[in-house]
Amino acid sequence: MDKQEFLKKYLADRRGTDCMKWDGLQEKFGETDLLPMWIADMEFRAPDAVTIAMTERVRHGIFGYTQVPDAYYRVFSEWMERRYHFTIQKEWLRFSTGCVTGIAWMIHAFTKPGDACMILTPVYYPFHNVVTNNDRRLVTVDLDYENGYFTMNYEAIEKAIVENQVKMFIQCSPHNPAGRVWTEEELDRVLAVCRKHQVLVVSDEIHQDLVLEGHTFVPAAVVSGGKYRDIVVTLSSATKTFNLATLLHSHIVITDDALRKVYDRFASGLNRTEVSVMGMTATQAGYEHGGEWLENVLEVIQDNYRYLKEELGKHLPEVTVCELEGSYLVLLDLRKLIGAGSAQEFVQKKCRLAVDYGEWFGESFAGFIRLNLATDPAFVRMAVENLINGSYS
Ligand SMILES: Cc1ncc(COP(=O)(O)O)c(C=O)c1O
Repeated sequence: MDKQEFLKKYLADRRGTDCMKWDGLQEKFGETDLLPMWIADMEFRAPDAVTIAMTERVRHGIFGYTQVPDAYYRVFSEWMERRYHFTIQKEWLRFSTGCVTGIAWMIHAFTKPGDACMILTPVYYPFHNVVTNNDRRLVTVDLDYENGYFTMNYEAIEKAIVENQVKMFIQCSPHNPAGRVWTEEELDRVLAVCRKHQVLVVSDEIHQDLVLEGHTFVPAAVVSGGKYRDIVVTLSSATKTFNLATLLHSHIVITDDALRKVYDRFASGLNRTEVSVMGMTATQAGYEHGGEWLENVLEVIQDNYRYLKEELGKHLPEVTVCELEGSYLVLLDLRKLIGAGSAQEFVQKKCRLAVDYGEWFGESFAGFIRLNLATDPAFVRMAVENLINGSYS
């Protein structure tokens, strides 16, 4: 299917469907007359195969206790093997109702109250809350930033680990909102630091499938031939890949027997860790039949990004459009444009956009905004126009 056919078929008007992005504007931003470019889900319907599989399940009309079929494990493992050389054995896989829930469970399974957990900022804001709200100490290390590109500062990471006796590193890979798809070499370096100081790495790989041209995603558990498996727990899902966030179905992959034993001991106290049948059905259908749909989505994201970068480069060169290697969430650095002014005053009041603000992701990042590009190209054009017009008003 070409891009125009895809857009015609899959773009949906979400207004009036209790959709947080549109219908939640008043609650989040205090007004409704804004173009929503915030939150991380798409304006596209899930692949047909997903909707068909779910519809068949609904038609059967039974929603009793359900087991995960062997076909599910096979389809998921094939997807991971084919794309990322990660062969996942059935025994390694556990489920949760979300990746952030998964992080919370790992915090409880592997650390004690008061223990330090590290994140690399700017990062998805629930990473901050899930640590502090579970009575652990939050240690933040800023990524280095230069000309729209973020990198890890290994010295600062090691120093923070040692000084704070960090027990767990909650990694975001690919990184939201820095837009980086960490290379194997970068991952190897940070994992080596963690290994040296016995830090457990919880690797949130929810954006794994949203990787743009020229970049390669490497799961933490696959880095250097699987050398770090004894310190890595992987969290992922198909919820970003196929736009299924509200189906509450995520993976926990623990390849190491000893780590899995600790997790299972903790999970035995949770009582319910089995799956939601709709989440499982949708995920399986997505992995089995959603490859072409995903290719179309990636093309839309890539084109939206190219357009944004070119147009702002031409008309608003004071704005830096950060590199986007993975995910559909791009940071704009507005600091040169707004000076000491408030990003919200400019972006919301003058440009009429609803976005995620840099300081939500890390206190040093005020003056950045995050835009969601998994959307109608017409909305990206409007957002660009609004930014340009807002800068003249
Ligand atoms: C890195 C990252 N992890 C987790 C989530 C949310 O996952 P879930 O809804 O499964 O908790 C997001 C959503 O944007 C995210 O960017």
